[in-house]
Amino acid sequence: MAWVVWFTGLPGCGKTTIAQRVEAMLAKNGTSVKVLQLDEIRKAITPCPRYTDEEREIVYASLAYMAKLLSEAGVNVIVDATANRRRYRDFARSLIPKFGEVFIRAPLDVCVAREAKRKAAFSPKGIYKKAAMEGAAVPGVNVAYEEPLAPEIDVDTTALSAEQSARFIVNRIGELFA
Ligand SMILES: Nc1ncnc2c1ncn2[C@@H]1O[C@H](COP(=O)(O)OP(=O)(O)OP(=O)(O)O)[C@@H](O)[C@H]1O
Ligand SMILES: [Mg+2]
Repeated sequence: MAWVVWFTGLPGCGKTTIAQRVEAMLAKNGTSVKVLQLDEIRKAITPCPRYTDEEREIVYASLAYMAKLLSEAGVNVIVDATANRRRYRDFARSLIPKFGEVFIRAPLDVCVAREAKRKAAFSPKGIYKKAAMEGAAVPGVNVAYEEPLAPEIDVDTTALSAEQSARFIVNRIGELFA
């Protein structure tokens, strides 16, 4: 049985940036991992996303189920997805024996600044600008972002660089799932 870790945190906090570094560090150690990136998977599940609560329920349940199937097949998984409600992550926890939440911690103002500056191709653009539009549902602004209450891995990205955060997470994964 392989493990699953769910990277959660506000839009722009650094989930994808750090997940990619964790994947590369683990590969160097000979540990393979599949990253499930919600922005990619959403294109298949909901090609015209509406970001409603009802839709998020389905999308996150699907993501949790994919992670469960992969872990049963012996594939370690990083889920890279905000999952703004605790219950979305709790549902994954209920399905997966070796599960951990990774809280990529950064305050909203830092996330807004990071999101405005980021350039990487994987990064969705203008999330916080869209928060001002009618009917917007941006976690942390228009809809609640429910922080993990007891994350297995808690990373303060205002104190650590992306590289240092990734190193910390790799070490904690080793401790948790050895
Ligand atoms: N300490 C840090 N840790 C992680 N990222 C950082 C840090 N400092 C600055 N950054 C920058 O913040 C940005 C984070 O963007 P990224 O796309 O990784 O966020 P995200 O959490 O995946 O957002 P989204 O939820 O929109 O997918 C990147 O441009 C990254 O270089
Ligand atoms: Mg991302």
